[in-house]
Amino acid sequence: MTENTDRQQIVHRDIDFGIDDTLPKHWLDNCPHRTHFLNALSITFPEGERFFIRSVHRFAHKAEDSQLKADVKAFTQQEAMHGREHQNLNDVLERQGYPVQRVEASATRDLRRLEKYTPPLFRLAVTACLEHYTALLAEVLLKDDSLLKNAEPRMQKMWQWHAIEESEHKAVAYDIYQLAAKSKWQAWWVRCFAMFHVTLRFFFKILTFYIWFLKEDKQLWKPKGWLVAWWFLFGKPGPLRKIIPGYLAWYKPGFHPLNRDTSNLLARYLEELAN
Ligand SMILES: [Fe+2]
Ligand SMILES: [Fe+2]
Repeated sequence: MTENTDRQQIVHRDIDFGIDDTLPKHWLDNCPHRTHFLNALSITFPEGERFFIRSVHRFAHKAEDSQLKADVKAFTQQEAMHGREHQNLNDVLERQGYPVQRVEASATRDLRRLEKYTPPLFRLAVTACLEHYTALLAEVLLKDDSLLKNAEPRMQKMWQWHAIEESEHKAVAYDIYQLAAKSKWQAWWVRCFAMFHVTLRFFFKILTFYIWFLKEDKQLWKPKGWLVAWWFLFGKPGPLRKIIPGYLAWYKPGFHPLNRDTSNLLARYLEELAN
C-alpha cells in the first residue's frame, strides 16, 4: 500500500436508477455510435465485475492491514451494485432487440478461458489492469461534462455514479496484487505483460461488440457515423486520446493508482449524486 497519497473512502451505495423499457434506443444524444460504444462496455460489466471479485478474493487473505481488508469488502459491494444496475440496462437492451446474449456469451467464454488456463496471479494482474482502465475512463468522464451531454437523465446519473465508485476503489485490486506477488520485480513484469495482453484483447472485443450493435441498427456502412465516432473518441472530447498518458504511466516501476489524485473531482460529483 502507498502511504503518501490521499486514499478515498470507499462507500457502498445501493442505488436503483430505474432503468426500464422507457429508455430510448439511442439514449446518448440520440447518437447510435456514442450510445453503442458505452453499451458495448456495459454488457461486459456484470460478468467482468464478478471476475474481478473472484480474482481479488483469491488473494484477499494477504491483506493484514485492517484498512485494506475493509477496502476489499467495500470494493466487492460496489462492484456487485454495478453489476446489478448494468444487468438492468443489458436486459433492456436485449428487449430492444440487440444481440446481448451473443455478446455476454463471448465475454464469458473469454473469462472462463482465462480462469482455466492462466495462474491466479496473472488473473489478478488482469483485474488490476482493467481497474486502471476503468479508473482512467472514469476520470475523463468526470472531468468533461460533454462526454455525457444530452444523455437520458437516468443513464447520465448511473454512469457518473459508476465513475465515482471506480475512482474511489481504483487502488484496491492493485494493492492486493502487490502483496500477492513474490517480489517487486515479479509484480512489475507480470503487470506489464498483463497490460499488453489486456489492451489488445479488451479493445478488440469492445470494437467487435460495438460493431454488432451498429449492425443491428443498420449503421455499420455509413461512413459519416464512423467519422463522427472517431472524432469523438480520439479528437474532441477524445476520451481515448486523453487516457494515453495515464495508460503509459502503468509501465513505470514506481506506478501506483493513487498517484493520480482525483479527490477534488469526486467531491464535486458526490455533492451532485446526493441531490
Ligand atoms: Fe465497476
Ligand atoms: Fe472497479
